[in-house]
Amino acid sequence: MNAIIGESWQKVGPAEEIDEEDVMRFDFGEKTFAVYHTEEGFFATDGLCTHEDQHLSEGLVMDDLIECPLHQGLFHIPTGEARSAPVCIDLQTYPVQVVEGEIYIRIRD
Ligand code: FES
Repeated sequence: MNAIIGESWQKVGPAEEIDEEDVMRFDFGEKTFAVYHTEEGFFATDGLCTHEDQHLSEGLVMDDLIECPLHQGLFHIPTGEARSAPVCIDLQTYPVQVVEGEIYIRIRD
């Protein structure tokens, strides 16, 4: 078994299910996440926009930015940084690894 797979790493699913420049929702316990496939690879952030709780999996991936579908706020996917009004609070990001074609994210308590 690969060393990265432990209790804090959760399997999201096959990497091939997220096309490049796309995003999908991943729920674990009471948390929800957005998992992205960009030109630079796979990333994960909190799923809900920090402005009004809109899920970002319904947003538009543009290069390394995610546009929230509700008010078009922008976040930088790799860092979670809020980049464009009305969003001003950054998203939390989570480490991602792809092992044998499966995406895993590390979820800290
Ligand atoms: S809910 Fe995301 S920008 Fe308003």
